[in-house]
Amino acid sequence: MSATVEKRPAHQLDSAAIRQQFPILSQQVHDRPLVFLDSAASAQKPNAVIDCMADTMRTQYANIHRGLHWMSERTTEAYEGVRDVVAAFLNAPSREEIVFTRNSTEAINLVAHSFGALLKPGQAVVISEMEHHANLVPWQMLRDRAGIELRIAPITDEGDLDLDALRDLLADGQVALVAVTHMSNVLGSVTPARQIADMAHEAGAQVLFDGSQFVVHRKTDVQALGADFYTFTGHKLYGPTGIGVLWARKALLDAMPPFMGGGDMISTVTFERSTWAHVPHKFEAGTPAIIETIALGAAIAWIEQIGMEAVAAHEAELTTYALNRLADVPGLRVVGAPHDRGGVISFVMDDVHPHDIATLLDRNGIAVRAGHHCAEPLMRRLGLTATARASFGVYTIPSEIDALAETLVRIRNFFV
Ligand code: ALA
Repeated sequence: MSATVEKRPAHQLDSAAIRQQFPILSQQVHDRPLVFLDSAASAQKPNAVIDCMADTMRTQYANIHRGLHWMSERTTEAYEGVRDVVAAFLNAPSREEIVFTRNSTEAINLVAHSFGALLKPGQAVVISEMEHHANLVPWQMLRDRAGIELRIAPITDEGDLDLDALRDLLADGQVALVAVTHMSNVLGSVTPARQIADMAHEAGAQVLFDGSQFVVHRKTDVQALGADFYTFTGHKLYGPTGIGVLWARKALLDAMPPFMGGGDMISTVTFERSTWAHVPHKFEAGTPAIIETIALGAAIAWIEQIGMEAVAAHEAELTTYALNRLADVPGLRVVGAPHDRGGVISFVMDDVHPHDIATLLDRNGIAVRAGHHCAEPLMRRLGLTATARASFGVYTIPSEIDALAETLVRIRNFFV
């Protein structure tokens, strides 16, 4: 890697100390130091999370909410304690508003099923052109089963949500829900959530934000955002897979029927009928991801001890640095120029397919994602079939971006 020190941002975080906490980052891939630029797909895990999972299994594990024995009670306390951690992380008014799910996809499916059950034919749900399939397919399924209308809010050529068009889509007062990403996993666009929420509420609609990408990068305050529903997933937030979160206003959760039936979500059961537990348990059927939930608490405690403001500043500087470095790569075009961008950059190169870019970067130890990024309609809107995507985490450092840019120049020279 050649030095380009003059362009590097000042470090706000102790990157060396942070990287030491991620054992996987010290590995070699194809005899090169691993440069992991695929955190938007799933982030690596710090020792705090790895140790929490192992310690839980070694020292404090039993099924929860069921046992009268010491081990079950301690595990239940640890699991339920994470509800408080998540409520504080989102600045939710109440711990009862935190529903644990498998991931953000399941959280959105829960809302589509259970909030969707309250909608009448003719009412509409608005999503945007830049949604991940997770915030698109569940609404198509609801449309097909319940006769609601699905409206698509366009984006601008820069990759921002078109707020004027959104206002027009809300004008007839038929929209029950606006469900949009808080940060695009393809373009990095951060949507103006408060403005969207205010527009939705003025039109009598509720608003859901898919925060899977956003919560990783910046402080999230569901009350300040004016959200009604907010979803995120643990594995992008340095936590385990298999655990996600739905936050919703309690009045909505109370009004919504259950999503799945089974143990833990009931109050009473006879062969004739069942009654439901109070929220959030009404929405948590079956034995949950106990270890993963406890480790999500460890992940949140870990990132908060660094501080979301420092994380946001670090990633903003890295993103600016990366945009500058990529601008010097011949034939490379960054896709989108949103008004507000998080640490995700999609790009294409003349004469080189994104899959070839990703494969050749990998030969140099550099991990990026290539493809449609689970956002096929957005790809069509952009006139593309695929992009390569570099995404940053709290452990990403400028020298990794240098490695990316320099290797891309070599790839380009090889093809031209
Ligand atoms: N949604 C994840 C991504 O954008 C998997 O890569």
